[in-house]
Amino acid sequence: MVRAPSTSANLGSGFDVVAVAHDAYFADAYVNVGSGCGVHVKFQGYDPGSDNTVTRAFERLFEILGRCWGVEAAVNNKIPVARGLGSSGATAVAALAAFVREAGVSASPQAIIEAAGLGEAAAAGSPHFDNVAAAALGGAAIVLSTQPLEVSHFFPRLLFAVGVPDVPPLREKTRVMRELLPREVAFRAYVTQLARVSALVIGLATSDYRLVALGMRDDVIEPLRAPYIRGYARVKMYALEAGAHAVTISGAGPSVIALVDDKHSDAVRAAIERAYAEEGIKAEVKIASPTHGALYYAGLSPP
Ligand code: HSE
Repeated sequence: MVRAPSTSANLGSGFDVVAVAHDAYFADAYVNVGSGCGVHVKFQGYDPGSDNTVTRAFERLFEILGRCWGVEAAVNNKIPVARGLGSSGATAVAALAAFVREAGVSASPQAIIEAAGLGEAAAAGSPHFDNVAAAALGGAAIVLSTQPLEVSHFFPRLLFAVGVPDVPPLREKTRVMRELLPREVAFRAYVTQLARVSALVIGLATSDYRLVALGMRDDVIEPLRAPYIRGYARVKMYALEAGAHAVTISGAGPSVIALVDDKHSDAVRAAIERAYAEEGIKAEVKIASPTHGALYYAGLSPP
């Protein structure tokens, strides 16, 4: 069995570039490698159907490796689905890492991340590599380049509160949320965003709460997506009042992620719970830390 953690992509300004892996939830994958060529995936719980991120990720990995195997995979996904917590990417990454270990093939972390990121098109309509990079490598992952794929990662010592609303999943949620993205960005907004991403990356690399909070601000994408996220304004306001350093949308939502310190984590968790309750939304709020990725759990990489 190999596990992959839940992830929060973007962290505000780092759209499609930054993601953090956290120990809020995990997806487990079991893989048997046999003779022949083809992939059969069994999903416990939520079944995304035959065109899913796991099957597509295997197809991409086989293309990259230039060979095909017979694979039986079973996925037990305990990451809430369609919540902006990287569940589709985590299941793919866990399954690929389990396959690489079972088959004893040599596949680089880049190959696994690339295949899983291309597989994300099954859920999101287009590939993106942020969630899968963090789910594979753990900690905070930065997508430095997509062609060719290059990813950096490190392990910040930070704490987050993750608020997960129990709302009916929007059909094709990530695809819809990506269609909202601006086609053009004003030059001043571009410069501001560059400064914020810089703060975010330096902050994550040095576990600096103030810089991460600065980088979690985003005036480009958050204002377009926030209206589609029920209760977001109240959750953000209450969390900040309770001492959160910053609050933003987790990935494409609807979950939220707040940067918290030890002293304020209980108060922020309670504030987020109260905000959801006042909005009439059932929700789970977890305090989470950056954690290892699937490659570590598969014994394929150092921590
Ligand atoms: N960066 C992606 C997005 C993550 O925000 O659309 C989706 O989980």
